[in-house]
Amino acid sequence: MSDLHLASVPEHVAIIMDGNGRWANQRGLPRTMGHRKGVEAVREVVRAAGDCGVRFLTLFAFSSENWRRPETEVSDLMGLLRAFIRRDLAELHRENVRIRVIGDRQNLRSDILPLLLEAEETTRNNTALTLVIAFNYGARDEIARAAAKLAREVAAGTLRPEDIDAEMLNGRMDTTDIPDPDLIIRTSGEERLSNFLLWQAAYSELLFVPEYWPDFTREQFYKALERYAARERRFGGLSTKTLAAGAP
Ligand code: FPP
Repeated sequence: MSDLHLASVPEHVAIIMDGNGRWANQRGLPRTMGHRKGVEAVREVVRAAGDCGVRFLTLFAFSSENWRRPETEVSDLMGLLRAFIRRDLAELHRENVRIRVIGDRQNLRSDILPLLLEAEETTRNNTALTLVIAFNYGARDEIARAAAKLAREVAAGTLRPEDIDAEMLNGRMDTTDIPDPDLIIRTSGEERLSNFLLWQAAYSELLFVPEYWPDFTREQFYKALERYAARERRFGGLSTKTLAAGAP
């Protein structure tokens, strides 16, 4: 359990787990080893998130652009995800964790899709942390798929174009029943979103930390939450200080 005392725990934390390759390089190891160590960090952070009351944790496990990596690395990442679900599903289920998968499910290999569906189905009624795995995920692709759904409804005559608003598009996203992330963390010192949750990140706090993902521990995660708690979110409004000073 955590002995963290925070003024505000984010409801939803999303993480771009970056730097596995560089972590391995630094040690003269193959990139694969970085990904392997990355899975250990996944386990630790999932537990840490559940322990401190985070309700949703989204992890960017495989982007729709990651298919461009060498075939050996792609199959290694697939293998790690499969092994994670096979080995950890029972324990996550025991810990009342609900698993959700976002990303394009079309054309996924037959050795991965059934596992993802099984993980969602087994844990669907769980009520502790929701672990959202972004797999074969790209934000522009997600927005385009949501727009195509609206277009099909217009074509079917069940929706009028003039009635389309942001709320409706939001309702067709993969994340439709998941709140927007309060905090997005990217490890490894890179400072960009790389096509991750672009729609949902409209008001997210962004935090870029220098550690490579395999070095991202429970402690680093809680430090990130402390930095988040010290920030003031305004959602386009005024700061509480300005309001207290009686802004006209
Ligand atoms: C980025 O590091 C990391 C990835 C592309 C994959 C992340 C996947 C895992 C940690 C394992 C599987 C996930 C789960 C949820 C079990 P990089 O390879 O781009 O690192 P680099 O930028 O240093 O080369």
